[in-house]
Amino acid sequence: MGRYLVTGGAGFVGSHLVAALLDRGDQVTVLDNLRMGHRTAVLPGAQLVVGDLADTPLVDRLLSDGRWDAVFHFASRSLVGESMQEPFLYFDENVALGARLIQACVRHGVTRFVLSSTAALFGAPPRIPIDEDVPIDPGSPYGESKWMLERALLWADRIYGLRSACLRYFNAAGSDPDGRLGEDHTPETHLVPLVIDTALGRRPALQVFGDDYPTPDGTCLRDYVHVTDLADAHLRALERLDKGSVAYNLGNGRGHSVLEVIRSVERVSGRRVPYELAARRPGDPAALVASSDRIMRETGWRPRYTQLDEIVATALRWREAHPRGYDDAVSAVAG
Ligand code: UFG
Repeated sequence: MGRYLVTGGAGFVGSHLVAALLDRGDQVTVLDNLRMGHRTAVLPGAQLVVGDLADTPLVDRLLSDGRWDAVFHFASRSLVGESMQEPFLYFDENVALGARLIQACVRHGVTRFVLSSTAALFGAPPRIPIDEDVPIDPGSPYGESKWMLERALLWADRIYGLRSACLRYFNAAGSDPDGRLGEDHTPETHLVPLVIDTALGRRPALQVFGDDYPTPDGTCLRDYVHVTDLADAHLRALERLDKGSVAYNLGNGRGHSVLEVIRSVERVSGRRVPYELAARRPGDPAALVASSDRIMRETGWRPRYTQLDEIVATALRWREAHPRGYDDAVSAVAG
């Protein structure tokens, strides 16, 4: 049994990693300021500390409180579009506070660190699928902020011996197959939950951002990977750190266009999704599809949810059961 600190563990991917750790009997502390995360997304069994990474004394207190087997770092801003409008939010919060956390880990003798990184490292990739040898050239301040943290971790390893795994997720989607957790952002900007809510009649027509990309149907291609598969990849990457630091691209290896996601939700829900064409969203690359051969080869990771319809089905189930997202759980507790 291990003891782990998870920053941002009340967020979408972080909460699913916490579930995976609890399921195997680990001890988990979540540090989250609940700006984007949800109190009820932290499953019973984990300790939630509500606080901010900017609060260095708090981070020091937590890290000096006994031995940690690793720190998983999810807490960050993560929207490509927002980062094109407010770039310095990303440098201030993601980079500066992330670097301070890494430094604190070094100070307190933490030896293993797992970074939630992103496919947004690859702006306009020269080839697809994208393996780890594709040159990194972020297309947005968001992608750049994660790359800067990857570089900080490289130096923390070289100089202090802090081992790290940088996990570059492609498009995280779906939700806990046992229905305990889901995807709920405010405001919601992610395609899968937006399309589902449109199908369920909770939103007006979906806006398709651009249909003139150099892709088969003109809309952007993304590699949707199930959030529970991502959680499993974290556990495997952690074990691999015994041999040295790693960086892995994580996806299903297949690209689906925005229109294909709409069709998938229509198939799975049995409802129509009204949509309209809109302008491109600044910062969006045409196509991001992963090659995950390296993590498969080195850790034995295999995604369980390889079909878009399966991913959509788990997301749909949670959103149908939680019309107001995690707010439902809050009112259930309060009432
Ligand atoms: N899209 C629409 N209409 C919408 C919302 C999204 O057409 O209302 C399109 C986007 O233009 C994009 C695709 O759907 O082509 C997926 O968009 P998301 O906002 O769901 O996801 P992104 O690809 O922009 O970004 C996500 C994460 C990032 C991560 C990236 C990696 O939010 O953190 O995947 O691929 F870096």
